[in-house]
Amino acid sequence: MDESIGGVPVRELAATYGTPLHIIDTDELGLEVDRFERAFGGRGITVGYAAKAFLCIGLVEFIAQTKLRLDVCSLGELLTAERGGMPAQRIYFHGCGKTDLELAAIVERRVAFDVIDNAEELERLAFLAAGGPPVDVMLRINTGIEAHTHEYVRTGGENTKFGIAAADVLNTFGVLAARPQLRLIGLHSHIGSGIIDAPPFVDNLGLLVEWADAARAQGHPVTQLIAGGGMGIEATPADARALDLDVLAAELAARVAGTPYRVAIEPGRALIARAGSTLYGVVAVKRQGRRRFVIVDGGMADNPRPALYGAHHHLDVVDSAAIEPAHPATLCGRSCENDRLGDVMVPGDLRAGDLVALRTTGAYTYSMASNYNRFGRPPVVFAANGSHRRVVRGERPEDVLRNDLG
Ligand SMILES: Cc1ncc(COP(=O)(O)O)c(C=O)c1O
Repeated sequence: MDESIGGVPVRELAATYGTPLHIIDTDELGLEVDRFERAFGGRGITVGYAAKAFLCIGLVEFIAQTKLRLDVCSLGELLTAERGGMPAQRIYFHGCGKTDLELAAIVERRVAFDVIDNAEELERLAFLAAGGPPVDVMLRINTGIEAHTHEYVRTGGENTKFGIAAADVLNTFGVLAARPQLRLIGLHSHIGSGIIDAPPFVDNLGLLVEWADAARAQGHPVTQLIAGGGMGIEATPADARALDLDVLAAELAARVAGTPYRVAIEPGRALIARAGSTLYGVVAVKRQGRRRFVIVDGGMADNPRPALYGAHHHLDVVDSAAIEPAHPATLCGRSCENDRLGDVMVPGDLRAGDLVALRTTGAYTYSMASNYNRFGRPPVVFAANGSHRRVVRGERPEDVLRNDLG
């Protein structure tokens, strides 16, 4: 592998912070943000970042310097956004089960608008907002389109819990018309993840346009349509880019040309995944029958994605002599679980003490990490332009115990 990340030698990062270590190459992240801004911003499409993919105060500070807005779905994400200096006008709230405190934060204008997921949320928000100035809201609609990679289907929408069912949308517009404390400014639909073709996004946007026309016919000031996130990335860093952003942006822009609507998107993975790597130390290499196992000093606690839904991450071996032919191996963590991190190829001389890096771990890795086995979560480091800094401390065993009362 290129033995540096963000221009910093990987061995230096490991020596400074230890392993496991979560690294975000902010040079790479900056390039991704530029790519999205050029393709979409250049065509009048607003780009937001889905905070759920990965968030910490340092990342918000980075994003606040760009044009991105931020989608949050919890008070924890909102507080992080605020501490990182993100202005409220650039934050909006998602989620299908918002708490009363979260709804109160929306009414207090700590975000620009709420994306309402269900009828109950609408009524709870209307109750809290009664008597005050109108709160801007969007409706999340279940358009019935589901997409994954090239495939997409129109279903009754029965496979997802999210959004207002198509059969209930017109009625919901009517309910909103009778709740003047809520102002319907837009519609939203997110149809899946890992999508590498434009047509599902464009067809979904077409349905949003139809619903938006119906909302406007009822007098709602709908002007924004959020076409969701879900833009896919390639399987390995050497592959060609999976999704042509220019094509997608041009087709989305064409779909709303001549309408009163502005489009927005909210990718998470496609913005941050490629910038992330997780560095592990090899603790053991063993054979069980014909299978070779490589055990590293992290695992499903810091990256549950392979175990959860078979996510693939490309493995790089740091400092490999590379003269040895590659051997198939199962990469495992140190959890008391069958915590496979993937089927990989490793040099035959790989041994304890070597460093390996899982790539494209920027999205849904640290943000989904847990304290399983009472392991502490690893530190997070930003590396760019040859320098590095820690933006999240690693958890020590005492930190893992901090909420125990005994
Ligand atoms: C509503 C919504 N928007 C955006 C995203 C981001 O998706 P991705 O990271 O695949 O771009 C998600 C992911 O679950 C989501 O639920």
